[in-house]
Amino acid sequence: MRAKTAIVLGAQWGDEGKGKIVDVLSGRFSVVARYAGGHNAGHTVIISGKKFVLQLVPCGVLRPDCRAVIGNGVVLDPMAFLKEIDRLKDLGVDVAGQLFISDRAHVILPYHRMIELAAENAPGRMKIGTTSRGIGPAYEDKMKRSGLRVVDLLNPEIMRTHIHNACHEKNTIVRALFGTDPLDPNKMYEEYARAAERIAPFIADTSRILNQALRDGQSIMFEGAQGTMLDIDHGTYPFVTSSSATAGGAVIGTGVGPTAIGTVIGVTKAYVTRVGEGPLPTEIHSEQGELLRIRGQEYGAVTGRPRRCGWLDLPLLRYSTEINGTEWLVVTKLDVLDALKEIPVCTAYNINGKITDSIPADVRGLEAIQPVLTTMKGWSEPTENVRTFEGLPAAAKDYLKFLETESGAKIGMISIGPDRDQTILLPEFAATLDAMAQK
Ligand code: GDP
Ligand code: IMO
Ligand code: MG
Repeated sequence: MRAKTAIVLGAQWGDEGKGKIVDVLSGRFSVVARYAGGHNAGHTVIISGKKFVLQLVPCGVLRPDCRAVIGNGVVLDPMAFLKEIDRLKDLGVDVAGQLFISDRAHVILPYHRMIELAAENAPGRMKIGTTSRGIGPAYEDKMKRSGLRVVDLLNPEIMRTHIHNACHEKNTIVRALFGTDPLDPNKMYEEYARAAERIAPFIADTSRILNQALRDGQSIMFEGAQGTMLDIDHGTYPFVTSSSATAGGAVIGTGVGPTAIGTVIGVTKAYVTRVGEGPLPTEIHSEQGELLRIRGQEYGAVTGRPRRCGWLDLPLLRYSTEINGTEWLVVTKLDVLDALKEIPVCTAYNINGKITDSIPADVRGLEAIQPVLTTMKGWSEPTENVRTFEGLPAAAKDYLKFLETESGAKIGMISIGPDRDQTILLPEFAATLDAMAQK
C-alpha cells in the first residue's frame, strides 16, 4: 500500500509557488514538515485576499487542525523564527502547541551572517547573490561538525561556551581575511539565551513525532524550500543554496525512511525565474521578460530583488522529474502567460553546435547553452476565473499537454492566480490524494 505522504518541492530555481500549493493541499494532511533551507525561503500564501509570507514556519500552520514540523534538515535563526511567529500572531495565527522544531536542527548565529556578507562582498570572490541570511556558513559548520544545534539552546552552559569559542574563531578569521569588526560574544550570549527561553516549548524529537504519525495512519506532507536547480548536489553549482532541496532531502531532513514516501509532487511555473547569480539558459533579455516580471509580480519575497525571467525549459524539467522521482506536476502562474500571442518553449540545448537535452555539470557548459526554442500558440484571454481543465482555452490546454508529455510526469493541478481558490485540481490527482491522504 502507498504511504500516506507526499513531498511538495520546487522543480526549478525556487519561487515556483510551493507555498500556495502546500496551503491548498494541506487541508488533506495531518502534518506538514519542512525539511531543508532556512529563512532564505519566502513562501507566499493568499487566502481570500489576506497575504501571509512564511519563511521558516511550514505553510500547514494556516490550517488550525494541521500540525507543523521544522525538521532537522532546516537551519534555524532563532531571531527570525521569533519574529515570524510574532508576525503570524498579529495576523491571527497562534502556532503554540501546533508547531514543533527538531532538536537536531542547526542554529544560525550572527557570525554566520557576518562571514557570508564579508565573503560575498570581498573583491575577487565569486558572488553567488545569496539572500545574506547566513545559510551557507551555518551549513558549513554543520558539516564541519562544529555547529550549535537546537537542542543546545536548552543548555545555557553549552551555549555560552559554544558562542565564546565560535566568536573567537570567526572574529579572527574575518578580521584577517576581510578586516571586519569583531562581534561581542557576551552580548550575543545574553540575546540568544533570552530567545532560547521562548523557543524551548517548541523543541521536540520531531522524527519521533513524524514516525508516530505514520504508525497512527496519519498523512504527512513534506514541504520543500528552494528548488531542484538550487540543490547543493544537483543544482547549478556553485550557484546553489547549501542544502538538499530535492526529494532525497525530505528523508534526511526529517528522519523518516525512504519507504515512507508515498508520492512526489513537483511545482513548476509555466515559465522559469531565478533570483541571484548563475546560469539561466532560457533567460529573456527583451521587453517580454519585463512583461512576465510585471504580470507575475516577480520580485523576491525575502529580498525584494527582481527575479530574472525565462521561457519554460523542458530539458530542465525532465532532469528535475528524474532527480526527484516526480510523479505529479503542479503548473503555476499559467495566467501570467495570458497576455502573450506566442509562447517560446525550450525543447533542447545547443551547446557549441551539439544538440542535447542533458544538463552540463560545469558552469561553463551551462553558460554556453543556446536554447532550441519552439513557438507555441498563445491564448490571449484571461484564465484566472477558470476552474476546470476543460474550461481552459484550447491553446492553453495544448501548452499544458506538451509540457506534460515532455516532462515525464503527470499534471495534477494548475494554478491560475495567487489565491487559494484560483486552482484547478485534476480528477485523477484528486482521487490519488483522497485515497492516500485522508486525515
Ligand atoms: P514559493 O517560494 O515557491 O512558495 O513561491 P513564492 O511565494 O516565493 O513566489 C510565488 C509568487 O507567485 C507569490 O507571490 C504567489 O502569491 C504567486 N503565485 C502563486 N501561484 C500563482 C499563480 O498561479 N498565478 C499568479 N499570478 N501568481 C501566483
Ligand atoms: P523559496 O523557498 C529562490 C537563491 C538565492 C541565491 C542562492 C543561494 O522561496 O523558493 P542562499 O541565501 O540560500 O545561500 O542563496 O539561492 N535562493 C532562492 N531563490 N527562492 C528561494 O527559496 C531561495 N532560497 C535561496 O537567491 O541565488
Ligand atoms: Mg519564494
